[in-house]
Amino acid sequence: CRKPVIPNNSFASNQIPEVEKESEPEEETDEDEGPAPVIVENESYVNLKKKISKRYDWQAKSVHAENAKICKQFRIKQASRQFQSILQERQSLPAWEERETILKLLSEHQVLVISGMTGCGKTTQIPQFILDDSLNGPPEKVANIICTQPRRISAISVAERVAKERTERVGLTVGYQIRLESVKSSATRLLYCTTGVLLRRLEGDTALQGVTHIIVDEVHERTEESDFLLLVLKDIVLLRPTLQVILMSATLNAELFSEYFSSCPIITIPGRTFPVDQFFLEDAIAVTRYVLQDGSPYMRSTKQMTKEKLRARRSRTAFEEVEEDLRLSLHLQPQDSVKDAVPDQQLDFKQLLARYKGLSKSVIKTMSIMDFEKVNLELIEALLEWIVDGKHSYPPGAILVFLPGLAEIKMLYEQLQSNSLFNNRRSHRCVVHPLHSSLSSEEQQAVFVKPPAGVTKIIISTNIAETSITIDDVVYVIDSGKMKEKRYDASKGMESLEDTFVSQANALQRKGRAGRVASGVCFHLFTSHHFNHQLLKQQLPEIQRVPLEQLCLRIKILEMFSTHNLQSVFSRLIEPPHTDSLRASKIRLRDLGALTPDEKLTPLGYHLASLPVDVRIGKLMLFGSIFRCLDPALTIAASLAFKSPFVSPWDKKEEANQKKLEFAYANSDYLALLRAYKGWQLSTKEGMRASYNYCRQNFLSGRVLQEMASLKRQFTELLSDIGFVKEGLRAREIEKRAQGGDGILDATGEEANSNAENPKLISAMLCAALYPNVVQVKSPEGKLQKTSAGAVRMQPKAEELKFVTKNDGYVHIHPSSVNYQVRHFDSPYLVYHEKIKTSRVFIRDCSVVSVYPLVLFGGGQVSVQLQRGEFIVSLDDGWIRFAAASHQVAELV
Ligand code: CDP
Ligand code: MG
Repeated sequence: CRKPVIPNNSFASNQIPEVEKESEPEEETDEDEGPAPVIVENESYVNLKKKISKRYDWQAKSVHAENAKICKQFRIKQASRQFQSILQERQSLPAWEERETILKLLSEHQVLVISGMTGCGKTTQIPQFILDDSLNGPPEKVANIICTQPRRISAISVAERVAKERTERVGLTVGYQIRLESVKSSATRLLYCTTGVLLRRLEGDTALQGVTHIIVDEVHERTEESDFLLLVLKDIVLLRPTLQVILMSATLNAELFSEYFSSCPIITIPGRTFPVDQFFLEDAIAVTRYVLQDGSPYMRSTKQMTKEKLRARRSRTAFEEVEEDLRLSLHLQPQDSVKDAVPDQQLDFKQLLARYKGLSKSVIKTMSIMDFEKVNLELIEALLEWIVDGKHSYPPGAILVFLPGLAEIKMLYEQLQSNSLFNNRRSHRCVVHPLHSSLSSEEQQAVFVKPPAGVTKIIISTNIAETSITIDDVVYVIDSGKMKEKRYDASKGMESLEDTFVSQANALQRKGRAGRVASGVCFHLFTSHHFNHQLLKQQLPEIQRVPLEQLCLRIKILEMFSTHNLQSVFSRLIEPPHTDSLRASKIRLRDLGALTPDEKLTPLGYHLASLPVDVRIGKLMLFGSIFRCLDPALTIAASLAFKSPFVSPWDKKEEANQKKLEFAYANSDYLALLRAYKGWQLSTKEGMRASYNYCRQNFLSGRVLQEMASLKRQFTELLSDIGFVKEGLRAREIEKRAQGGDGILDATGEEANSNAENPKLISAMLCAALYPNVVQVKSPEGKLQKTSAGAVRMQPKAEELKFVTKNDGYVHIHPSSVNYQVRHFDSPYLVYHEKIKTSRVFIRDCSVVSVYPLVLFGGGQVSVQLQRGEFIVSLDDGWIRFAAASHQVAELV
């Protein structure tokens, strides 16, 4: 062996060389204008940072002048009748009783924890106490408050509400800022923003110049971002003694936060709620039975239809399952009628329960093993029917249904629309509103509107209505017991959003939403046994269940931590995650080329830090845009982030796999996915029916494809936010469209999809994102077989091929992959995304890549050696090795 021709790592990482020379800083831009700057050829990192921090320069003089104006306007406004009448309403909120105490403690302490029941006025009132108090003082002392919210939708709705309470437009003294959208002005002194927005601001302005108060709302939710923000604030309060910090939480764990901030004072706002009757699944079934009786409106209108619908699906009806379950719990013989065993229609619900009390336990037993997912929506419909029907002793009021996510909300909404009692256009008795984070703010406001007398408002919501949004007139709560939670998915080695059971704390919080104006009722669609024995007391903090790559990058991008050791920063978090988890994340970041071995951020790492997606998906998005194959990269990224649209029903697996093979080319599941997606896109242009048929014929899930399309739009927005793509100028866009382009331009103004039809390049992008998830294909020498023409070497059989990964030894290709049963691959390497372990270890979707993309985009350590007149290129300690001719090496270099 000779000395390496090329030093190790010379083209391994994705580093852009840092330019030492400082160039003139550019003109200052308004912070709301245009995307954040992108590193381009001759602009150094240093300049970039300067530019960002300059954006937040605080000009005290003009601020004081504006403050004087704001104070004057406030004094005039305070006297107005409208303001006074809203003020009266506000003063009835429990938070007002603590106003003086809060202001007094704030004048004595830098940090404060305030806890109180949801709806007591923390979010809307406390920031106003501080602001209004300061507006009655001198202009130099006017507060400038930032209040963070865990969700975009709450930042908007609260800002709008508070502006209304102040009888002004949102964007004046009260504003909001969320990613990609801000409504604020130079007069804004109370800004509601998402935690992410504040963290981004901290990247360029660690001292938070000009800000007097940071209020971190909903700290009890323990999101990764809010835990991290607390850590940052812990350091900033030492740097800025005049900055005041207030942590607001629901009535949970206030002591934990106080201890974290050197035992700062806690104020507890006493709650005022009405009692709520709590029922579990076993009780809910009793109601369903009641509804199911002959003669009830439910029986007449829905049962028949639902039965038909379900018969079409050739499955047992959900009711039949419930019926079976009830039969078991009632110890009935198969020939006995369940109907005879349920009480009369006239019975009051409470009486009904009394009769069922004795058998709750056995119901519980059977229910906990039953897959009640299927019955949930049917059960909810039946419960709604029971509530609206009004044959019970509870007062009329709005109904709030908690479901895990958007898909379930859509499903229930559609199901209800086909029931004449709930149909928004036909029914005069009900109005149904979905509520989730992707609604526009007008749609969102609709949920607060009180319906006319005799009309029941039904809100179907995610856990957004749990603490962030309070709807006052709710009397009934139906809790599906499920929510979406970010978790580390070991099979994918990345974060994924999963349906999980709520914790006891969530369930109680949901129940509490019913008792705001009068006593209420809550139905949990899980058994009391499940509640007591299976649910966690509290949700695990997000930081302890998600991969930590994003957080590592965010820490590194902050100037205050950029030179710190990651482990030391992590150990100071409020409840630090396990060190193994950090170690694994650091390795993944190094493999990706986002972090150097001495924990320095590479330029790739810098950009990944500002994309709030899994780092691998982020890398695929960035590379897709850099190499102008944006659209296919985003399609694949969306499917990696969500799931594959290919479905394989258990009784039609073969047929489904066969259909998938029709899309296959170049030995790649991902390229097959692109074809399938494109076909679906075309079919949607021909209408709903066509796209439905397309999905059915090709074993594709329309719902997954739709979700992917929406994710792709979000990804494009994120890229446009950091300047990696530009929506073309109008004229240019039209011109491009005429030429068949899609009008999306990359950072340099070129068509972002000019390479979209290059499968080799797309495979290379996959390599960049998925490395080191690579398997080597080891094929045995085929046997020699004598034929009339002489001895011929036969191709090995598919089952003779062996697949080996770097760390886990042999794996198998999953039967659903287009590469299952393939006998010959053009290159002996496959990249894959997901590894699953059942009877054996399988890799699911995979794609053949040739050696050059592996070396160029893999991000591993590369070396080249001259051996016996031949260049040997090797990657990661020789795990991947191949011989190359000198001109190829020259190309590589
Ligand atoms: O933060 P906390 O849960 O303690 O209460 P809040 O969000 O400040 O809400 C106080 C009151 O304002 C509640 O009665 C809400 O119903 C009402 N509110 C509203 O009507 N519209 C909004 N967008 C937000 C709050
Ligand atoms: Mg709140």
